[in-house]
Amino acid sequence: KVLILDFGSQVTQLIARRVREAAVFCEIHPNDVSDEFIRSFAPKAIILSGSHASTYEDHELRAPQAVWEAGVPVLGICYGMQTMAVQLGGKVEWSDHREFGYAEVRAHGHTQLLDGIQDFETPEKHGMLKVWMSHGDKVTALPPGFKLMASTPSCPIAGMADEARKLYAFQFHPEVTHTLQGAAIITRFVRTIAGCQGDWQMGSYIDEAVAKIREQVGDEEVILGLSGGVDSSVAAALIHRAIGDQLTCVFVDHGLLRLNEGDMVMDMFAGKLHAKVIRVDASGQFMGKLAGVTDPERKRKIIGAEFVEVFQAEASKLKNAKWLAQGTIYPDVVESGGTKTKKATTIKSHHNVGGLPETLGLKLLEPLRELFKDEVRALGVALGLPADMVYRHPFPGPGLGVRILGEVKKDFADLLRRADAIFIEELRNTIDPATGKSWYALTSQAFAVFLPVKSVGVMGDGRTYDYVVALRAVQTSDFMTADWAELPYALLKRTSGRIINEVRGINRVTYDVSSKPPATIEWE
Ligand code: XMP
Repeated sequence: KVLILDFGSQVTQLIARRVREAAVFCEIHPNDVSDEFIRSFAPKAIILSGSHASTYEDHELRAPQAVWEAGVPVLGICYGMQTMAVQLGGKVEWSDHREFGYAEVRAHGHTQLLDGIQDFETPEKHGMLKVWMSHGDKVTALPPGFKLMASTPSCPIAGMADEARKLYAFQFHPEVTHTLQGAAIITRFVRTIAGCQGDWQMGSYIDEAVAKIREQVGDEEVILGLSGGVDSSVAAALIHRAIGDQLTCVFVDHGLLRLNEGDMVMDMFAGKLHAKVIRVDASGQFMGKLAGVTDPERKRKIIGAEFVEVFQAEASKLKNAKWLAQGTIYPDVVESGGTKTKKATTIKSHHNVGGLPETLGLKLLEPLRELFKDEVRALGVALGLPADMVYRHPFPGPGLGVRILGEVKKDFADLLRRADAIFIEELRNTIDPATGKSWYALTSQAFAVFLPVKSVGVMGDGRTYDYVVALRAVQTSDFMTADWAELPYALLKRTSGRIINEVRGINRVTYDVSSKPPATIEWE
């Protein structure tokens, strides 16, 4: 497997994705792991990520010595190249001028890494690559033994290689898709240069994961909080494949789920997979606790705490359970363990099924810890979950609780569920001719929000005085920033018409045209 050392770049995870797309398994670890860790990891190749730091200012931010002594191919990217240069006897010059964006680099000489990889067919642009650059500092003198591999007019040393020791480095970012041949370069590095097999696939992953779960758990029992979301569903399906009835799923229905969601979850897991699922209808209890509460943060805290309480009460009935299974996925692991990431301020206190307390006294089983979201989805499909379920938009743990502004009431939730279902149905049924995809697939998240204000309308001969819903649809790759989706007017028109006609109690529909930031995706 390949070891990626993270120096704190925002795109380190993309390196891992490209490596896995080349069917090679890899893991990301902080750049300051010990020499001993690297030796016992026994990587077949090492990749050093970029960073926000400057090789000048951050003298501590270096690769462990063992990287250079491991005798395996090393690829340095951006900061990774600079630290390679500094540590191996080259020179890096500080610059306050940041270069940012597209660049065309010229490949120099013949290296195994770039041989035959190019963007342009024309002879005058032979060997040129369109790449994405982002840097301030740059390497100004090659370390001994290195030769020039790539350059641009403003960055004469944009790539360097010591082919005898299989050390390679780029100032640009091959992991981002803007670097057109980036995937080809990373595949060449891990497969050809490092000689990794390229046998990392879902099918074999299932067999391995199943074997591992059986070994870990033995004949003990496991409980899992099923939310209907992608991660907990895939974890449940995988663990059920491994240990069948030793797994009990607890599905807490807080009354804030989407339309028919509870039945769908039961139908899938109890009905089709024949898994043991306990459905707890706790909606009355949740509504009781939420009565009169309007503050968004308090609502979140109440829903989170209540969830834990209900789950714990169920768990304590299962006397033999020794394990708590969770659908923790790789980005969760990296984010919480990341050493270099600054603590973000709490915009919203997140609650999800993964957030159960350690006080349950159970051992943790987290079979998805190594997987990215898209890999989790592929795994779900390979395990026989319906694509519709596995490719669903994310849904927040507090559910409709954060989509009903102000006080949460059952009547409001019922109206919102129906309006939301109409919007989702229209998005699924409307195909964009340019891409052939549905607007559900073209958006990252879409939903309706209930506004507890009444406005005047007219229906038939009568005046109405009813509630408002807002539609929200966004496009984003990481949910940290998002653009509102430019949905076709015809789609908005049909959705609005249907909601107002079919959902008595709502007489006005609006569309949210705010980006994140400054707005957030959810309204609370
Ligand atoms: P915001 O509203 O912060 O949302 O732009 C970003 C993404 O996070 C989801 N979200 C949550 N997910 N528990 C979750 O599991 C939560 O408490 C929660 N709050 C927001 C939101 O749906 C969006 O995808």
